[in-house]
Amino acid sequence: MHQPPPGPIARLRSLRYVELHTPAFTEAADFYEEVWGLRTVESDTGARWLRGTGDEHHVLHLTERERVGLGRIAFAVATPAEVDEAGRRLEARSIVPVFGPGPLEQAGGGYGLRFTDPEGRLIEISAQVEAVVPRGRDGAVPVGVTHAVLNTTDIDAAVAFYCDVLGLRVSDWSEHQMAFLRCNADHHCIAFNQAEWTSLNHVAYEMTSVDHFMRGLGRLRHHGITPQWGPGRHGPGNNTFSYFTDPSGLVCEYTSEVAQIVEDAWIARVWRRVPDLSDLWGTAGPPSKEIRCHMAGSPDPGPLAPVDAQEATA
Ligand SMILES: [Fe+2]
Repeated sequence: MHQPPPGPIARLRSLRYVELHTPAFTEAADFYEEVWGLRTVESDTGARWLRGTGDEHHVLHLTERERVGLGRIAFAVATPAEVDEAGRRLEARSIVPVFGPGPLEQAGGGYGLRFTDPEGRLIEISAQVEAVVPRGRDGAVPVGVTHAVLNTTDIDAAVAFYCDVLGLRVSDWSEHQMAFLRCNADHHCIAFNQAEWTSLNHVAYEMTSVDHFMRGLGRLRHHGITPQWGPGRHGPGNNTFSYFTDPSGLVCEYTSEVAQIVEDAWIARVWRRVPDLSDLWGTAGPPSKEIRCHMAGSPDPGPLAPVDAQEATA
């Protein structure tokens, strides 16, 4: 019998959190707590979970590891039943979860599953994660994590996987260099950047408004930290941007006012990569060689790759 191709495994609601691996654990944890504006919700030896002002239990999970890299990307789904259904649909695609479906024995708990994408990134989807009481949005600190940009060696394959399997939709392309994908009304929660190797390009944190965004830059300035690229406003997504490097050498971004998509009315376009469109205000200028280097990072075989495989790419 001919089997129709299974649809996406689930309807992803949002990007919950990102896990980062860092050899500079103490410095990174201090940076995100004392400078960046997140707050610790739980800590353990070599692990820290930090929240924003929103209701997500944590938006950043820092883990001490010998090599810097992306630990995982976690998405929300609505119900445990959807997690179970995602497990069945992964099976239909011959993708074997590395965990679950089952209860998540970790900070925030919940019910979820984990699997890897074709480039070795670990993806977690979860429901019923413990929420925290929102702190109010007046502070010039992040609400939560809003997107991650991923360097890929095959942008077409990456976009196909995240659309076909995870149900993301393409909001825009930046020539054939970047693809912006959404899971809800935000213009993008994941973007892929065609690159020489697989790695994390950057993680972006949502500021409530452009005013909060600018006040956040002011607070960083008082800590002696100035943006390595920005402030500015991007064409694709129309979001403001300011890029910094954390103590691990990973790039973090303050952003605000990302375009809101009307699902059935949006037509994806291909943006030309010209300065006028990557820097709408004309305030940022071109990215420095230094920030471009940090965005390229080093080859990341993924958190489940054997240690010797990681050495081989070092
Ligand atoms: Fe970004």
